[in-house]
Amino acid sequence: MMREYRWAMIGCGVIANEMAGAMNRLGRSFYAVANRTRERAEAFGEKYHISKVYPDISSVFSDDNVDIVYIATPHNTHFPFIMEALNSGKHVFCEKAITLNAEQLNQAAALAEERHLILAEATTLYHMPLFKKMKEVKDQNLLGPLRFVQMNFGSYKEYDMNNRFFSRDLAGGALLDIGIYALSFTRWFLSEAPDQIVSQVKKAPTGVDEQAGILLTNPVGEMASLSLTLHAKQPKRGMAAFDKGYIEIYNYPRGDQGVITYTEDGHQETIRLGSCDDALIYEIQDMEEAVSGGGNQMYLAYTKDVMNIMTKLRKDWHITYPEEEARSQEL
Ligand SMILES: NC(=O)c1ccc[n+]([C@@H]2O[C@H](COP(=O)([O-])OP(=O)(O)OC[C@H]3O[C@@H](n4cnc5c(N)ncnc54)[C@H](OP(=O)(O)O)[C@@H]3O)[C@@H](O)[C@H]2O)c1
Repeated sequence: MMREYRWAMIGCGVIANEMAGAMNRLGRSFYAVANRTRERAEAFGEKYHISKVYPDISSVFSDDNVDIVYIATPHNTHFPFIMEALNSGKHVFCEKAITLNAEQLNQAAALAEERHLILAEATTLYHMPLFKKMKEVKDQNLLGPLRFVQMNFGSYKEYDMNNRFFSRDLAGGALLDIGIYALSFTRWFLSEAPDQIVSQVKKAPTGVDEQAGILLTNPVGEMASLSLTLHAKQPKRGMAAFDKGYIEIYNYPRGDQGVITYTEDGHQETIRLGSCDDALIYEIQDMEEAVSGGGNQMYLAYTKDVMNIMTKLRKDWHITYPEEEARSQEL
């Protein structure tokens, strides 16, 4: 049986609650929790049976008992926490978006490799049984060559510029918040990373992206179109079209039901696999398998491809975050 690892969590907001709940549903608890506001961590620890509550975040890194650090704080805080965790010899499982840009991710990935540690982004779809199955369908060439991926992601956010989704200081914007799901879905199916990227963007008064249309093509001619908006919900459906049929996945970005339509005779096959409710349980299990040397690489290569696309798009859109501006002034 695989060893159970000791996980420490940084942050105790919305997704951290879900993660701690998932660990409890496995009949286990996080080993420790740290949060910027300590009182919240204490209440959180009590709720999820976490016995150790650190006085501050740096205690996570100095605790030799910690195997895996789970980071659930805003985007702009991820990189410094990742680097500290890796430098302290800990594996890292970090919420999306794992870093602000490709340069940070390359630096973190190089450090993880040098220290023989696992670094992974908590991209749920990479761990869903349904997505693994649909990738097999593609890889077995049952539908012929892939031609097009279509992915829309819409989220209706209150149009309040103090909201983190529109905040430059918290690395907001549609791309890092929801575009990352659409791009991860796309990368999951494409045979190679896109090398041609065009787009149009609409910016919020704060300067971050609030709506965008993106077209991608890779060297083998597979294409994708993505539409993102923080203004409107869109159907939670992703689609990959092949010569002889298409795959649709519903309830994206998690997803436990998909349909394959075989266009030659029109028949359809519905596939139900896994459970959206167990999404974070699959993440925990895959991460532990990776840490135990079980061969699960956690798709960091896809995470890098997605980060490269997002970095290029923001460059085209002239959108930077304060951390990046401070750095470019230093250079
Ligand atoms: N919400 C979701 O459904 C969801 C899903 C997937 C991924 N994510 C990702 O998960 C991350 C967290 O999102 P969330 O929705 O859980 O956020 P949230 O509910 O706003 O919680 C944010 C957490 O980060 C802490 N924090 C805020 N600023 C900090 C700073 N400067 N330094 C250290 N800690 C800080 C907060 O501490 P305090 O208690 O002191 O405020 C809080 O514990 C984001 O990267 C997000 O994209 C979220």
